[in-house]
Amino acid sequence: MILKNAKLYGQEGRWNIGVKGEQIKTITPHTSQNETSDVNVIDLQGKIVLPPYVEPHIHLDYALTAGTPRWNQSGSVFEGIEIWSERKQIANETKDDIKKRALKAIKMQLKHGIQHVRTHVDVSDPKLRGLEALLEVKEEIKPWMDLQLVALPQEGLYTKSDGEELLIKALEMGADVVGGIPHYELTREDGVQSVLKALELAVKYDKLVDIHCDEIDDDQSRYIEVLAGESLKLGMGDRVTASHTTAMASYSNAYTYKLFQTLRKAKIHFVALPKANLHLQGRFDNYPTRRGLTRVKELLNEGINVCFGLDSIMDPWYPLGDGNLMDVVDTGLHACHMTDHDHIVTALNLITTNGAKALGIEEGYGIKEGNKANLIVIDSDSEYEAIRTQATVLYSIRNGKVMVETKPAETTIDVPGLLW
Ligand code: FE2
Repeated sequence: MILKNAKLYGQEGRWNIGVKGEQIKTITPHTSQNETSDVNVIDLQGKIVLPPYVEPHIHLDYALTAGTPRWNQSGSVFEGIEIWSERKQIANETKDDIKKRALKAIKMQLKHGIQHVRTHVDVSDPKLRGLEALLEVKEEIKPWMDLQLVALPQEGLYTKSDGEELLIKALEMGADVVGGIPHYELTREDGVQSVLKALELAVKYDKLVDIHCDEIDDDQSRYIEVLAGESLKLGMGDRVTASHTTAMASYSNAYTYKLFQTLRKAKIHFVALPKANLHLQGRFDNYPTRRGLTRVKELLNEGINVCFGLDSIMDPWYPLGDGNLMDVVDTGLHACHMTDHDHIVTALNLITTNGAKALGIEEGYGIKEGNKANLIVIDSDSEYEAIRTQATVLYSIRNGKVMVETKPAETTIDVPGLLW
């Protein structure tokens, strides 16, 4: 297959991408002289080709459960946890029920050009049904999507009496990443201990770490300094991710200045979840209401890796979402005051290469000769316009085969006599 007349994301010129089997074989300049009679040619007419989108933070085992058994009236993180806990007790879902919901959500993600996903999975359920379901989904979906599973002690590692035991069991069953939720533990000390335990288990079982960290509007919630400081001491920073860190929006600048020194040295990754946290945070404020997002622009300015994720598709924490990361980018650029030209034209890094770094999948990721032919084509010939128009994913190609194709909508306007 040849993808001719392509624009490569972030590069000038037009290119022909030759795909043989599952690999990108050649990338050569497109000229009128090298037209080919090969029947298996897709003329991209200058549209942008880029590596597949990376969703670094979603909860597939929670997907499509919003409103059952009840809606989250306060819109807070903590009511979400309460509702989920109630639901587990009464819904009595089987592994197959959970798989069905997760696969429906994955279908939405595939449609939107995502091929790499890190999903957190609740391991507070003594039967670990969510993990069993997602381990099977991971294997079944492998030809089309790479899935990483985070063992998340959703009800607290120490708040729940068997939390630690279940987390260890989950890691032994095959979860890829150790999770945590220190701001939900009963005491500050338990929170600190949960972070230390996550790092200890990651070293012991050779896993990555991704902590739901400081997802609260409390300027005293400072588990990020524990996570970054201890990761630095252990020398495992690039294997560690901090998700949410919304309390950072409430820290004083003086404390943040000192914190950033540690973050720079530690090299941990950050996942910001703009849609979910604009919805969940600031719920206990009068006016002005905090945006409750981590300091995305400032972290990026310091050379710290930040990526964007969606977090939820219709669950007790967030009632909307259909897997679309371009929509997350749009919201995030606005909410983080990143609507200047330079941030707009590089915004797709937040859902491609930056996400790949956080997931530790950089090797083999990207549009390069010799890499797997995993790529997407979006309906725009400029990086700026792609963001302005929230360009649709026209093709998602996996292992050299077209997996998803979307025809752009066609609109006719019958308004004669105007100079358009
Ligand atoms: Fe989350």
